[in-house]
Amino acid sequence: MCGIVGYVGPKSVESVLLVGLTRLEYRGYDSAGIAVIDKGDLEIRKEKGKIKDLEKLLHANPVEGSIGIGHTRWATHGEPDRVNAHPHADTRRKIAVVHNGIVENYQKFKAELTKRGHVFHSETDTEVIPHILEDLLSQGKTMAQAMQHCVDHLEGRYAFVAIYEREPDRLYFARNGSPLVYGRGHKEGFLASDVSAIIPAAREQVQIENNQWGWVTRDTLHLHNGTGTELPVTPVKIELKLAHLDKGDFDHYMLKEIYEQPDMLRRIIQARMTDDGKVEFPESVLTNEYQGRISRILITSAGTSWHAGMIGKIYLENFAKIATEVDISSEFRYRNPIAEGDTMVIAISQSGETADTLAGIHEAKAKFCRVLSFVNNTTSTIARESDAIIDLRAGPEIGVASTKAYTAQVLNLLLYAIHLAGIKWLISKEDRQIMFQEIRKVPQKIDEILSRAHILKEWAQDFRETKDFVFLGRHYNHPTALEGALKLKEISYIHASGYAGGEFKHGPIALITEEVPVVCIAPQSEVYEKMFSNIQEVKARKGKIIAIHSEGDEQTPAAADYSFAIPQAPDYLNPLLAVIPLQLLAYYTAIERGCEPDQPRNLAKSVTVE
Ligand code: M6R
Repeated sequence: MCGIVGYVGPKSVESVLLVGLTRLEYRGYDSAGIAVIDKGDLEIRKEKGKIKDLEKLLHANPVEGSIGIGHTRWATHGEPDRVNAHPHADTRRKIAVVHNGIVENYQKFKAELTKRGHVFHSETDTEVIPHILEDLLSQGKTMAQAMQHCVDHLEGRYAFVAIYEREPDRLYFARNGSPLVYGRGHKEGFLASDVSAIIPAAREQVQIENNQWGWVTRDTLHLHNGTGTELPVTPVKIELKLAHLDKGDFDHYMLKEIYEQPDMLRRIIQARMTDDGKVEFPESVLTNEYQGRISRILITSAGTSWHAGMIGKIYLENFAKIATEVDISSEFRYRNPIAEGDTMVIAISQSGETADTLAGIHEAKAKFCRVLSFVNNTTSTIARESDAIIDLRAGPEIGVASTKAYTAQVLNLLLYAIHLAGIKWLISKEDRQIMFQEIRKVPQKIDEILSRAHILKEWAQDFRETKDFVFLGRHYNHPTALEGALKLKEISYIHASGYAGGEFKHGPIALITEEVPVVCIAPQSEVYEKMFSNIQEVKARKGKIIAIHSEGDEQTPAAADYSFAIPQAPDYLNPLLAVIPLQLLAYYTAIERGCEPDQPRNLAKSVTVE
């Protein structure tokens, strides 16, 4: 949440910052700004809205220089307007700061500093930082001493970068909780919330860890730990390529990412499943001996990753016979979960930066559980704080609505459950190979579904004015119903709720009228007949039925107002297929309604506040 970028080097700082901010826009897009030291003076430009609005402002009123910082905001404290936009400055406008996170004790600082004559303009927590620095400088401290003071006294989660007019060759930074990476290019230094903002110029990176602070010059990174000791730095090569961030011929990242799913799943299958019926997770350091002992699993995740976790629970219980609970991360830490015996915690996170999930990991560690994380960013905070990781291998996901990361999570969880079942001798090699044959067919089946995307596009025209949707599914597809509803509401702003089919009659059925479409996910499976009963219940109340059913099923389309066939598959693979038309339905409905699917209102891709 919020993207920050800093640059010192020979290029036009304005354009480096704008490019970086555009790439970080997925982290927040309600206002943006930059600060540059321009011919010895600190210049700040900020604007409400997206980066293109800031660009317009800079076009009219440009800045020049070789050092600067930028910010794209997802508001926490103070409404999204120009005053609350970052960067924030001190009273004399000599220091500018961009910040991602929340300074929890800012009120205390604000009160003390106001008494000492500091003038605050915004409602943000961030504004105290330049004032604290200013105050300490006026007492004769150096910037380095002032930064150490901040690390010692600021509470909460933060990553911030500061520039000071009198030291125009240094980007000062500190991190506690929110992500920050240093990038080194040729005679240029960068800081950013993630490396996507600074490639290809930055070729090597150093992840800044909690309680670290320091400064960046054109040539190097000066890094200190929380007690002020200077640390050695070992930059590593940045593997991410610019081509990974390209939208290609697609109108939106979300659509591109939906279409990437077949090839992505092929790559995961290729990397994980061996010809002799084994599943391999070479990046996980957990031994077979330990994994064979696991008696209980607690899954913690948020949003779409939580839905994947719900399917993961069914896989782990069905195939690996391990009792599994799944919690929303923000609840997990407060329910004081019991962790006896060999309880392992699985955290699932596309970004690897979700604050709630990170807090869940801290809770797990406090209970001495081992943590295995399924992450799409292997250098993320969650990856670094876990005992072991499984790399989702989805490739960069930029659309705020998660699509390909979800199917990557579901497939990796299935493969992990099969892996554990293998360790525990619960599935024979022959049975695993039968499952593998079916899994290998999934990408081709998704290709086939995608070839009929035009059907969903046509349907979407009928739902332009729809106010409410209901999604129903059972067993493996209860989470699919929740995911379909989440996709629709987050990008088209239509209210949508997902329910377990069996729960429908216990209340939600009261919602049904002719105006409420009900998406019934009813592929062939052991719960098909029960789902068909749901369809009849909706029909009896004149609800509009949108059915997702298996090819060859004639009964369901006959009862439905809209029907979309998915290829037949074993029930445990149906969620990977059934979610694809729901992603497309959400996408095309958003387009019909004139919504921006890649940047839905009020949302951010990486939710780094609790
Ligand atoms: O990066 P994470 O997987 O930890 O993110 C969790 C949720 O914030 C995320 O899935 C969110 O719900 C998406 N916007 C869903 O499309």
